[in-house]
Amino acid sequence: MTAAKYRLLILACNLLVALPALSQGTRKPSLPAYHAKAGVQCFDCHQEEKPTKKAVPSESCMTCHGDYPAMKASTKDVKPNPHSSHLGEIPCTECHRQHQPAVVKCLECHSGKFKFNIP
Ligand code: HEC
Ligand code: HEC
Ligand code: HEC
Ligand code: HEC
Repeated sequence: MTAAKYRLLILACNLLVALPALSQGTRKPSLPAYHAKAGVQCFDCHQEEKPTKKAVPSESCMTCHGDYPAMKASTKDVKPNPHSSHLGEIPCTECHRQHQPAVVKCLECHSGKFKFNIP
C-alpha cells in the first residue's frame, strides 16, 4: 500500500471512531447562539458583573423562560416530559448548560430507553 493510501485509510478509520462520539453530547453547546441573538448578558444568568462561581440559580432562567409548570406545558408533547418527572424541580443546569454541551440527566439511568432533542 502506498503512503498516501495508508493515510486515507487512517483518516477513514478515525472518522468511523469519531461518528458515535459526535452523536453523544460532544457536540457544541447550542445555547450561546440563542442567547447572544436575544442579547442575554452574563449578569442576566450569573447575577454578577464578572462571573466567577459556577452555580447559576434556576430563578435566573425562570425570569425569562417561566417556572417549572410553564416549562412542563411547553414540552407537554415530549414523552416522557423532561420538565415533569419523578426527579421533581431540579436545577435547570442539571441538563441545560451555557458554556458546555447539554446533558439530559434522565439518560444517566434510562440510557437508550428515552430519546430527547435537548437545545
Ligand atoms: C434575559 C433572558 C434569558 C435568560 C436569563 C435565560 N434565557 Fe434562555 N433564552 C432566552 C431567549 C430570548 C431565547 C431565544 C428564544 C427562545 O427560543 O425562547 C433563549 C433560548 C433558550 C433555549 C433554547 C430554546 C429553544 O427554543 O430551543 C434554552 C434551552 C434556554 N434558553 C435555556 C436557558 C437556561 C437553562 C437559562 C438559565 C441558565 C436561560 N435560558 C437563561 C432568554 C433568556
Ligand atoms: C432533566 C433535564 C432537564 C431539566 C432539569 C430542564 N430541562 Fe429544559 N429541556 C430538557 C429537554 C430534554 C428538552 C427538549 C425536549 C424535546 O423537545 O425533546 C428541554 C427543552 C427546554 C426548552 C425548549 C422548550 C421548547 O419550547 O421547545 C426550554 C426553553 C427549556 N428546556 C428550559 C428549561 C428551564 C428554564 C429549566 C429549569 C426551570 C429546564 N429547562 C430544566 C431537559 C431539561
Ligand atoms: C444563559 C445563562 C448564562 C449566560 C448568559 C452566561 N453564563 Fe456563564 N455559566 C452559566 C452556567 C449555567 C454555568 C455552569 C456551567 C455551564 O453551564 O457551562 C456557567 C459557568 C460560568 C463560569 C464558571 C466556569 C465554567 O466554565 O464552568 C464562568 C467563569 C462563566 N460562566 C462566565 C460567564 C461570562 C463571562 C458570561 C458573559 C460573557 C457568561 N458566563 C454568560 C450560564 C450563563
Ligand atoms: C438516578 C436514576 C434515575 C434518574 C436520573 C431518572 N430516573 Fe426515571 N426511573 C428511575 C428508576 C429506578 C425507575 C423505576 C424503575 C423503572 O421503571 O425503570 C424510574 C422510572 C421512570 C419512569 C416510569 C417507568 C417507565 O419506564 O416508563 C419514567 C417515565 C421515568 N423514570 C422518567 C424519567 C425522566 C423523564 C427523568 C429525567 C427528568 C428520569 N426518569 C431520571 C431512575 C432514574
